[in-house]
Amino acid sequence: MEQNICKIAILGMGTVGGGVCKILERQKDNLVNKIGGDLEIAKILVRNKVKYIDKVAPEMLTDQWSDVINDDSIKIIVEVMGGIEPAGTYIKESLQKGKHVVTANKDLIAVQGHELLKIAKENNCDLLFEAAVAGGIPIIRPLKQCLAGNDITEVMGIINGTTNFILTKMSEEGMDFADALQLATDLGYAEADPTADIEGHDAGRKLAILASIAFHSPVTFPDVYTEGISKITAKDIRYAHELGCEIKLLGIAKNTEDGIEVKVHPTMISAKHPLASVKDSFNAVFVHGDAVDDAMFYGRGAGEFPTGSAVVGDIIDAARNMQFHCSGRIGCSCYKNIPVKNVRETKSSYYVRMKLEDRAGTLAALAGVFGSNNVSISKLLQKTKQGNTADIVIVTYDVIEKQFMDSITVISTMSMVKEISSIIRVYQ
Ligand code: NAP
Ligand code: HSE
Repeated sequence: MEQNICKIAILGMGTVGGGVCKILERQKDNLVNKIGGDLEIAKILVRNKVKYIDKVAPEMLTDQWSDVINDDSIKIIVEVMGGIEPAGTYIKESLQKGKHVVTANKDLIAVQGHELLKIAKENNCDLLFEAAVAGGIPIIRPLKQCLAGNDITEVMGIINGTTNFILTKMSEEGMDFADALQLATDLGYAEADPTADIEGHDAGRKLAILASIAFHSPVTFPDVYTEGISKITAKDIRYAHELGCEIKLLGIAKNTEDGIEVKVHPTMISAKHPLASVKDSFNAVFVHGDAVDDAMFYGRGAGEFPTGSAVVGDIIDAARNMQFHCSGRIGCSCYKNIPVKNVRETKSSYYVRMKLEDRAGTLAALAGVFGSNNVSISKLLQKTKQGNTADIVIVTYDVIEKQFMDSITVISTMSMVKEISSIIRVYQ
């Protein structure tokens, strides 16, 4: 840190970049005390300078990466522009030049995080990404540091605000899916293309990052099974309530005896579980360790200030590390290579709703198919009847997914089965 001033560059001045600037401005009188030196924004990189002329001092603004990477006085690069490229190349080049990097880029870290952390280590640099998972909630640092004395066997949570908002509106106000999605988009929770939210990809990327850190073994986004919320209906929500549950899009990572399980899917979870009461756009991450037992982290998973809070925390950490000559102290924590299980090998309990012919022998025939595939039934509800067709809900005990799906394949061909209306996993 020259003359105790650490120069930083911010790549991107959108929601998160704007939040970072505002927080640094608010904190400017405290930074010397917090860091032991001062921070100065030297450059801000954007694509279209005209858009930012009123917001950023012209001498700071650039649309040329070369202005940033070739400025040896800039020590910390804050990447908040998003996307895989050119963000990935900019981060690599920064680390190779000995610049520390702070990023909020979950898309990139979920696929290239291990490679980038290796480059950071080779260059004694910090690569920090607290904001990449669950926005403002501290979870990366707690997993790497505060919980380092644990064997963590499970990390699960609500790690997408848009889908949690939609499910809350459907559950509490009876809003339909399309209206709730529109409202989430209007409120700025959803990604520009909300498919990543709705189909569970955004949560899948965050879960890959969490699982790698929690289990000390590489997990990347393609390893994660993802299923979205677009098929969840008001009827399923009503049945969930009757069963004492809420439906949430959960990311669930488990370190089991025969491998890592990483899945994102709509899940029925007991209304008594702390995650069931996480509402609207809030996020929460639930961790189970052998020493700490259960711990839950709750807060805002998106937005300029919550996400900016996590980014600024990382900037301050990187600047402190420079001040005390201990940069790169905590890098990649993956020292194991545990296989990731195929979803078909994982276990869950299932809720299945179907329309059946209401006549003698139908349930016995279903039970026979389930029984021959080792699927044991825990609950059965029969509610509505239209003509001779009944709506039936069955909840199973925990079963290997392949065995459950094999029985559904057979059941769906039976003449008395008119429709398999929905299948939702149940967290036990
Ligand atoms: P955003 O509002 O779309 O802003 C992106 C910014 O990056 C814009 O200023 C844009 O400049 C600039 N940019 C994009 N591509 C560029 C390029 N090739 N060269 C130079 N500048 C470029 O995005 P955001 O919501 O702030 O998100 C930023 C990152 O934070 C993403 O990785 C996102 O996943 C992550 N994140 C966001 C949130 C959140 O709440 N928004 C939460 C957690 C993590 P132009 O306007 O000139 O194109
Ligand atoms: N679209 C994301 C969400 C923003 O809804 O959680 C934060 O990553």
